[in-house]
Amino acid sequence: MTSTEPLLRAEEILDPATLADPYPFFTRLRAQDPVHWNEPTGSWYVARYRDVHDLLTDPRLGAPTGDALIAALPPAERAVYRTVEDFFARWMVFSDPPHQLRIRTCLQRAFTPAAVAAFEPSLHRHAERAVGAFAASAAPAGDLIEDLARPFALDVVCDLLGIEADERADVSAWSDALMAYLSAAEPAPGGADAAGLAVAELTSYVSGTVLPRGRGLLARTLGPGVAAGELTTADAAATFAQLLTGGVEPVSTAAGVALTALHAAPEQLRDLRAGRLPYEHAVEEALRFDPPFHFAPRQARETLQAGDRTIRAGDRVVLLLASANRDERQFPRAGTYDARRGPVPHLAFGRGGHYCIGGVLARRQLVTLLRELDRRVPDLRIDVSAVHRSPSFGSTVLRPTPCMV
Ligand code: HEM
Repeated sequence: MTSTEPLLRAEEILDPATLADPYPFFTRLRAQDPVHWNEPTGSWYVARYRDVHDLLTDPRLGAPTGDALIAALPPAERAVYRTVEDFFARWMVFSDPPHQLRIRTCLQRAFTPAAVAAFEPSLHRHAERAVGAFAASAAPAGDLIEDLARPFALDVVCDLLGIEADERADVSAWSDALMAYLSAAEPAPGGADAAGLAVAELTSYVSGTVLPRGRGLLARTLGPGVAAGELTTADAAATFAQLLTGGVEPVSTAAGVALTALHAAPEQLRDLRAGRLPYEHAVEEALRFDPPFHFAPRQARETLQAGDRTIRAGDRVVLLLASANRDERQFPRAGTYDARRGPVPHLAFGRGGHYCIGGVLARRQLVTLLRELDRRVPDLRIDVSAVHRSPSFGSTVLRPTPCMV
């Protein structure tokens, strides 16, 4: 701890300044209280790389349940929160084996490097289209996320999942409502209403349209299991929602982070454009420097020791991926974006049994988009001082991200 560093206050985790930029808070957590019990949010926060790395594969930690959250709510709020939490409990990322593994096994073959390589021509087509539309419509100024990265990520996921053009607006709105619910710091009156509506509409779309139509990744991989009665339509809807949100938000955020960081470091941008720096390294470093998802949520299945702290069975544990990625013990000059450091073992995609199934795809998407943008719009300028982080609990949200074409 440096002498100028203020002491940590548990409440500051919910301060607007922390929600807008949690990194100063994470720095103090790593220095002052690396396994921190946070009373205001009722969870442990693990901040150092080595601890996060090891706990990600510790079998004594499992998926979190929403039971404590629901019990703390006024009775009138419980029913809608229960519906939404039951829906999330079917997501792979919020469930344990055997449920998680059953679904992961069905999906796995659609996300292997070979499957992603076969999808590469489509990725190029989507990047050309998205960058072309952006260049045509954004002059003289546009927003990198809203006008480019998000439409591109949505195009890719719609293609993968077999979503038709006229269904896109609904699907995008459901993704927004679910992400808004997940990134709320605390439950609030009416806080689950929009997500509850999205769950109902999306479930009926998946059971009434996606599965019967038989097209797209979900119908191909999970459809047979649903038809055989081994999986339910609720499982299919939950998986659809996870692929949708996983495919749109983090990919567009990572593109925004990479481009903003590169434009703030003109030498690296020059090297990239001149072919002296691989696009792959620029993408990896963006994922380390500011990962779209800041944490992996867990719950202790049994009592365990972490550092000098005792985590009791049932306690909620937040593994801070974003803090681990900035740990100076692991990454020298961790607070600096430096694509020249090459690929490093960052934790942006997690680790172990829940390791991001879309990691290979996401990396190819990001490289393809950045490369196409440089090819087609070599004079793009981003006013990095005008890019802002919107307040969010647990994820990076860059808005606005203005740029000049
Ligand atoms: C830059 C983009 C992405 C980032 C940073 C990211 C990050 C993550 C992280 C950190 C996890 C693990 C969470 C945990 O352990 O609790 C995860 C899991 C997952 N991701 Fe991604 N993701 C990205 C893109 C994608 C894409 C493109 C897809 C699919 C279209 C996807 C689908 C999933 C799924 C289904 C899981 C759950 C795996 C499981 O629990 O077995 N993600 N992702």
